[in-house]
Formats: sequence, structure tokens, C-alpha cells
Amino acid sequence: MSKKIVLVTVGVLALFVVAIFVSKPNISEQKTVSVAKEIKQSVQIFKSPTCGCCKGYASALGQDGFQVKATDMSDVGVVKDKYNIPAQMRSCHTTVVGKYFVEGHVPIEAVNKLLREQPDIDGIALPGMPIGTPGMPGRKQGPFVIYQVTDGVYSEYMTM
Ligand code: CU
Ligand code: CU
Repeated sequence: MSKKIVLVTVGVLALFVVAIFVSKPNISEQKTVSVAKEIKQSVQIFKSPTCGCCKGYASALGQDGFQVKATDMSDVGVVKDKYNIPAQMRSCHTTVVGKYFVEGHVPIEAVNKLLREQPDIDGIALPGMPIGTPGMPGRKQGPFVIYQVTDGVYSEYMTM
């Protein structure tokens, strides 16, 4: 075999190896994209126009496929009063998802569980603004206790 033929053969083999390595990650990438593109129901978030973490929560919902409509209000308390959300349960923004309210930075997994199971409650809440929740930067500092609220009475819904 001449030197030239050996070089060409090695070159062709190298191209095949490169092609295999390049094509594999592309396939998994396509899968990830199609999962994120699932379109979910539209939800409405009531927030103060100046609230940055509220915007962060809205985009976390959007990334999970929800169609998010944001309504800016000078006094978000009006919405919380309307849904009879007790003072101890309140956070910055309130999201309305179908027949439920979702108060504050509730992790999206809990919102999905609520929609899947359709319990007979008014809504769920994560009081305050715990670090590490969607929209709140930083590392999670401890378990998030999410409450269920009905007629202004609350009890634990789930801990995550
Ligand atoms: Cu907030
Ligand atoms: Cu907020």
C-alpha cells in the first residue's frame, strides 16, 4: 500500500468517527427542546410593575410551557383580598391558574401537581419569598412548605 492510500484511508476513518460524535449530542438536544415546547394552559399573574422577582416567576412559568399573561397593579392586595388569602400566606405576586390561585414563588412542580390532581381547595401558597424558589436567585436554604388554602383557612399541602 502506498503512503498516499494509507493517509486517505486514515482520513476517511477519522471523518466517520467525528461524524458519530457530532451526530449523537444533536439527537438528545432535539429531544430536550421538544419536551420544553409542550404548550400548557394560560395563566394570569398579578404583580407590581416594579417587582423583579415576579417577572422571574412569570418567566419560570413560561419556560414550563404556560401561556403567561401579566397584569401590573399598584396594589396587588386587592387580588389577595378577593381570593381570601390570609396575611400569613401572602407573598409578592398572585397567579390565577384555572379555578385556583397560586400565591407567591410556588415551585412549578407543585403547580403541575395541583393541576393534575384537581383537589377541592381554593389555591396553594408559599408565604414570603424564599431564596432558591423560581424567580428568587440563590441556593435553596431549607425545605419549602407549601400550603393549601380554602375559605381563608390553611394547612400543609406539600413539602419539597
Ligand atoms: Cu417575589
Ligand atoms: Cu413576585
